[in-house]
Amino acid sequence: MLSATFLVVAFPLASFSHASTPSGGYQSTCRSIADAISNSSQLFYPNSTQYNADIEHAIISSTQVSACSVEPGSAADVSVVLRILGSTRTPFAVKGGGHAYNLGFSSTTGVQISMTRFNSVEHNNATGTVDAGSGVTLDQVYAALDSTGANIVGGRIPSVGISGLTLGGGYAFMSNQYGLTIDNMAGYELVLPNGTITNVTESNKDLWFALRGGGNNFGIVTKFTYKTVPQGQIWGGTLRYDVDKLDLVKEAVLKFQLVNDTKANVNVYVIYTPAGAVSIGLVFYNAPTPAPGIFDDFLAIPTNQSDVKTRSFVDIFDSLYFINTPKTDRSRVNAVSVTQYSPSVFDALVNQILFWGGKIAALDPNLTLSIILEPFLKDVFSHGPASAYPPDRSQALFPTGISFKYGNASLDDTVSKGLRNFSDAVTAAAVVDGQNVSHAAVYPNYALFDTPLEEIYGANLPRLHGIKKAVDPENVMGLAGGFKI
Ligand SMILES: Cc1cc2nc3c(=O)[nH]c(=O)nc-3n(C[C@H](O)[C@H](O)[C@H](O)COP(=O)(O)OP(=O)(O)OC[C@H]3O[C@@H](n4cnc5c(N)ncnc54)[C@H](O)[C@@H]3O)c2cc1C
Ligand SMILES: *[C@@H]1O[C@H](CO)[C@@H](O)[C@H](O)[C@H]1NC(C)=O
Ligand SMILES: *[C@@H]1O[C@H](CO)[C@@H](O)[C@H](O)[C@H]1NC(C)=O
Ligand SMILES: *[C@@H]1O[C@H](CO)[C@@H](O)[C@H](O)[C@H]1NC(C)=O
Ligand SMILES: *[C@@H]1O[C@H](CO)[C@@H](O)[C@H](O)[C@H]1NC(C)=O
Ligand SMILES: *[C@@H]1O[C@H](CO)[C@@H](O)[C@H](O)[C@H]1NC(C)=O
Ligand SMILES: *[C@@H]1O[C@H](CO)[C@@H](O)[C@H](O)[C@H]1NC(C)=O
Ligand SMILES: *[C@@H]1O[C@H](CO)[C@@H](O)[C@H](O)[C@H]1NC(C)=O
Ligand SMILES: *[C@@H]1O[C@H](CO)[C@@H](O)[C@H](O)[C@H]1NC(C)=O
Ligand SMILES: *[C@@H]1O[C@H](CO)[C@@H](O)[C@H](O)[C@H]1NC(C)=O
Ligand SMILES: *[C@@H]1O[C@H](CO)[C@@H](O)[C@H](O)[C@H]1NC(C)=O
Ligand SMILES: *[C@@H]1O[C@H](CO)[C@@H](O)[C@H](O)[C@H]1NC(C)=O
Repeated sequence: MLSATFLVVAFPLASFSHASTPSGGYQSTCRSIADAISNSSQLFYPNSTQYNADIEHAIISSTQVSACSVEPGSAADVSVVLRILGSTRTPFAVKGGGHAYNLGFSSTTGVQISMTRFNSVEHNNATGTVDAGSGVTLDQVYAALDSTGANIVGGRIPSVGISGLTLGGGYAFMSNQYGLTIDNMAGYELVLPNGTITNVTESNKDLWFALRGGGNNFGIVTKFTYKTVPQGQIWGGTLRYDVDKLDLVKEAVLKFQLVNDTKANVNVYVIYTPAGAVSIGLVFYNAPTPAPGIFDDFLAIPTNQSDVKTRSFVDIFDSLYFINTPKTDRSRVNAVSVTQYSPSVFDALVNQILFWGGKIAALDPNLTLSIILEPFLKDVFSHGPASAYPPDRSQALFPTGISFKYGNASLDDTVSKGLRNFSDAVTAAAVVDGQNVSHAAVYPNYALFDTPLEEIYGANLPRLHGIKKAVDPENVMGLAGGFKI
């Protein structure tokens, strides 16, 4: 009785999101798109070189086999594609740089859209802006701006797409100085869910609010226009510490949080090994020489390797490729938001790394388990007006990322549950510490797929629902995965 009821209720839902034979389904939609697009765009079928590139993700566990892929070459063709997908109610995905951690967020069994042809970067020195197509990666923008004296406030690690980063928020080395990526926008070229092409600027109050953190809920962006910031030589690099240095790293992190200098930034990676946790300090100062004393605690700890020096922005960025996941890995990522790395929060993070590292490594020797400590200044959210994320700009949150990389697909569920347990344990430690984080917003670009919308958008959710209803009454963007408003 119970199972019969379950089947009746569950079947239509299941058949909606999972095509029974992926490459067999949605063929008529693929044909309609191929017939309707201009010659600036192209549609590809499975096993062609372009199709394989279109569905590929930085993390293999984020890739799905779609019925076909399309590379639109103009906003007009994005509009054509979106209208067909909406009218046929075909599941689809939009891929920028393809670094989404969650399956289905930029992958699908329906129609895979790859923005790869939106590949131009144009620096307008007179207006102090950069126009970048939504298929561009951070590497391409930074390379284009190298030695121009200008930069954008973008992400820290190579090969990440500007699209997902900019639609989700964007934490940068310079966030203490200028805020998040979304606090440094001049405009968007957006194809609305009904196919209308529009330019969104600050004057469009609702979409300006919604696009800044609201992900792929409000249409497909074809072009981002960033305000530039001045960029000269910087000082920084990575410092690798062995397991026996963890206590010193902890002291350095605790003390660094008292530094009140907007040019300074530190990210600390703590990584499981069977012998204990190793760490990597990524230090950054937005001038050729750091103010005295700021990084002394990190520099005084004996390292296994260090490349800290005065260098160009592109040079430090290019030195960070090693942080990227090899394409063969599976991955599960989540974040916990804390307001401070107190001794007990730091200890909770390390205890969880050692506990879950040991547990999962016993099942998969290829495990890499790491966290990123990202301390910012108390006023890091003060550099921009209200936005979808973060819902509360009065309190700084450190978007501490937790990342499991592994090889064995049968561990997906075990790892997801472990990650949730890990995150909850750290939040609990912060709450015991007196931090107001039991419902603190989780950074959408790091959040695990099952994170409730309330935990990301908080008190902004009613307004976002209102904007969504007005802009996308047919819920066309609901056919694409992601955190769905
Ligand atoms: C190695 C690594 C380093 C990172 N470093 C940072 C960092 O320094 N700072 C930081 O803030 N984050 C960082 N992140 C997180 C990063 O911001 C997210 O993973 C981001 O979503 C990646 O964007 P993408 O375009 O590559 O991803 P995609 O997988 O292509 O897209 C991500 C989401 O955006 C949507 N989307 C993509 N393009 C469009 C478009 N044109 N229109 C509408 N929706 C679109 C997709 O549908 C999907 O939901 C990092 C991630 C990795 C893997
Ligand atoms: C694309 O179509 C336009 C007109 O629709 C035509 O002028 C152009 O030559 C075509 N380009 C290619 C590469 O076929
Ligand atoms: C694509 O190639 C794979 C492996 O070579 C094969 O298993 C699959 O059937 C092919 N798919 C199509 C649609 O041809
Ligand atoms: C670019 O703009 C900056 C600031 O407005 C100015 O100082 C500089 O001379 C300009 N550079 C070029 C090449 O025009
Ligand atoms: C958007 O702005 C660009 C550049 O100013 C302009 O060329 C384009 O026509 C505008 N598009 C719309 C739909 O208004
Ligand atoms: C940090 O420095 C700024 C400017 O010097 C000052 O306004 C602010 O109050 C300081 N903040 C803290 C927490 O010391
Ligand atoms: C770091 O260096 C020490 C001393 O040379 C060495 O014993 C240790 O194995 C190194 N650790 C790592 C992780 O390479
Ligand atoms: C671990 O990695 C090795 C080398 O890449 C690979 O051969 C092996 O299959 C992987 N194991 C698992 C469980 O993924
Ligand atoms: C993957 O994990 C499963 C479940 O723990 C196990 O049965 C299987 O042997 C593992 N596969 C490999 C290649 O290690
Ligand atoms: C995590 O799992 C452990 C062991 O299964 C359990 O004792 C603990 O209560 C869980 N913690 C949280 C915060 O869920
Ligand atoms: C605690 O955080 C919530 C957001 O999660 C916020 O709404 C509330 O005002 C905060 N309370 C205090 C006392 O700061
Ligand atoms: C498309 O949506 C926009 C935003 O809601 C609206 O202004 C416009 O009138 C709609 N266009 C059509 C053709 O329905």
